[in-house]
Amino acid sequence: MANTLEQLLNYSKQYGFVFQGSELYGGLANSWDYGPLGVELKNNLKAAWWKAFVTHNPYNTGIDSGIILHSETWIASGHVKGFQDPLMDCKECKTRHRADKLIELHSKGKVDADGWSHEKMREYIEINKVKCPVCGNFNYTDIRNFNLMFKTHQGVLEDDKNLVYLRPETAQGIFLDFKNVLRTSRKKIPFGIGQIGKSFRNEITPGNFIFRTREFEQMELEFFCKPGTELKWFDYWRSFAIDFLKTLGLSADNLKLYDHPQEKLSFYSNATTDILYRYPWGFDELWGIASRTDYDLKQHQEHSKENLEYLDPETSEKYLPFVIEPSLGVERLLLAILNDALVEEVVEQTNESRTLLKIDKRLAPYKVAVLPLVKKYHQEKTESVFENVLKRHVAVYDDTGNIGRRYRRQDAIGTPYCVTIDNQTTEDDTVTVRDRDTMEQVRVPIGELNQYLQSKLDL
Ligand code: GAP
Repeated sequence: MANTLEQLLNYSKQYGFVFQGSELYGGLANSWDYGPLGVELKNNLKAAWWKAFVTHNPYNTGIDSGIILHSETWIASGHVKGFQDPLMDCKECKTRHRADKLIELHSKGKVDADGWSHEKMREYIEINKVKCPVCGNFNYTDIRNFNLMFKTHQGVLEDDKNLVYLRPETAQGIFLDFKNVLRTSRKKIPFGIGQIGKSFRNEITPGNFIFRTREFEQMELEFFCKPGTELKWFDYWRSFAIDFLKTLGLSADNLKLYDHPQEKLSFYSNATTDILYRYPWGFDELWGIASRTDYDLKQHQEHSKENLEYLDPETSEKYLPFVIEPSLGVERLLLAILNDALVEEVVEQTNESRTLLKIDKRLAPYKVAVLPLVKKYHQEKTESVFENVLKRHVAVYDDTGNIGRRYRRQDAIGTPYCVTIDNQTTEDDTVTVRDRDTMEQVRVPIGELNQYLQSKLDL
């Protein structure tokens, strides 16, 4: 059975994947902290992406740019003028809404008002008497534009000259460093630059748990290629992205492609596809892949007055490269992974049900749990085995409650292997290793344990 959003939220809180942000002070709306298991899962997702898109990729390399960039960046990129949503307030209950989303909600997804003029949206809302989804009244302010970038000031003076923005995407940092990377990495076109990091957007309607938040992490690749070859590379990275999701264990049935129709493309894009995932509320955007032409480099060239052209060493041609951009949110991926992996299963032998996080071993927060069968008798030996396992594997020690319950807990958080120290261990220096999925147990000599786990985990 599919998980509900509430089940995912409760599960995440119960086991320490995700906590309400600033809970101690009553919580900060729509902000989330990642607990001991959540941070491991996030790190494992980022490591898998970095490996596939950067370190183990023949084309690409990586950077880590600033969150605060020169303010001109956002004028050049178009964010200062264009990165805004149509905002409306309900005068009765004082809630804020995105006009296009109100229309989408009212039409049950049948009308896509993205890109409509304010007039067109106002007219639709009037004619269809679109009521406030919170209080049911029909009494709104006029529609106005709201820029989603967080502003702050750098230095002591809070004047316009010192105005800076928290980046709303990691991509622009890559464009700013394009020439530096080209000069120092000896890369030749086609090549890409990847980056993982925090982005900030003052979203009008955050929600759906960690799906849409104001602070989130992106994993972005800007892939530079020769003009005219971009659609070939667009197809390449689109397939690469889908394969990547499947290797992480996402079921193909829960993935779907949405190709933006030509008339809805951003003015600088000649192809855009969203990879949608079947979240508990339906299919929604997980990963955006866009062919962005030479728009960004051209804009930065114009605004910085620096030549950003590429000189082809073989043909001596000079051109501004075109760009393919696969852009993925870490938290949206994490939610998809949890949703796909979390199952309630009936154990055939005992007819009992167990909560199981059937997650890819590479992503599991802990790879191994080391457990004394009975704390009173086996604690000392277990602690020494644990120390040894920790030298090679991400492991956890647990001696609270009976062994059956401890196995269930490890199943629920996706730990692939449980190592148990019992009476036989004191006699022959062997331990039991229990497999999360099959629940089969084998005895392994302590001296061979790390190697055994390594071969099983195949990391
Ligand atoms: N540089 C291109 C770019 O940022 P986007 O479609 O606005 O494109 C890319 O964002 C991805 O970032 C989305 O597909 C999603 O995974 C993630 N994302 C965007 N806004 C988000 C938000 N408010 N909360 C969580 N993730 C978000």
